[in-house]
Amino acid sequence: MKVLRINATDTYDIRHMMLRNGRPRQEVVFPKDEDEQTFHLGAFFEGKLVSVASFYFENHPDLPDEYQYRLRGMATIPEFQHKGHSSALLKIAFPIIKQNLCSLLWCNARTSAMGYYQKVGFEKVGEEFDIPTVGPHVLMFKKIF
Ligand SMILES: CC(C)(COP(=O)(O)OP(=O)(O)OC[C@H]1O[C@@H](n2cnc3c(N)ncnc32)[C@H](O)[C@@H]1OP(=O)(O)O)[C@@H](O)C(=O)NCCC(=O)NCCS
Repeated sequence: MKVLRINATDTYDIRHMMLRNGRPRQEVVFPKDEDEQTFHLGAFFEGKLVSVASFYFENHPDLPDEYQYRLRGMATIPEFQHKGHSSALLKIAFPIIKQNLCSLLWCNARTSAMGYYQKVGFEKVGEEFDIPTVGPHVLMFKKIF
């Protein structure tokens, strides 16, 4: 497996298949995808992109840290799940986030993926909430040291 920085557009097929299946293709274009501080990572297996994640310089109003990053669009294609691809992306992302002087990474986690986020060190805050057309979510964060 190899982890590389990729462009926002490289993430769109996997985002569409795994996170917005059946929804209009335009929904996989997220705000700030092209911002200068945003970065996108991809895990490749034998040259094929199998897992993606995107990181945005964005604070959550309920979290105290002055400078924060937000994780979005984390997904691994089914045949490659449970093989450490998403975790590998996060391991590469943490030092980049720290280098950008941010001390916290947060995400609106699908409740179906909470177990994953807990395994990689995220904590849940607050109550479950619904994102229309996407489903139940919970706010989660991880301190970056
Ligand atoms: C959640 C997801 C991104 C995890 O990707 P992955 O590449 O399979 O993750 P990893 O292999 O790095 O898993 C890391 C650990 O979490 C565990 N894990 C993975 N998915 C899990 C889940 N849904 N619930 C509980 N644990 C999970 C793995 O077993 C692994 O534990 P281990 O190291 O003890 O074996 C992937 O299942 C996925 O794409 N799901 C559908 C899209 C989605 O819901 N994305 C999150 C949006 S908020």
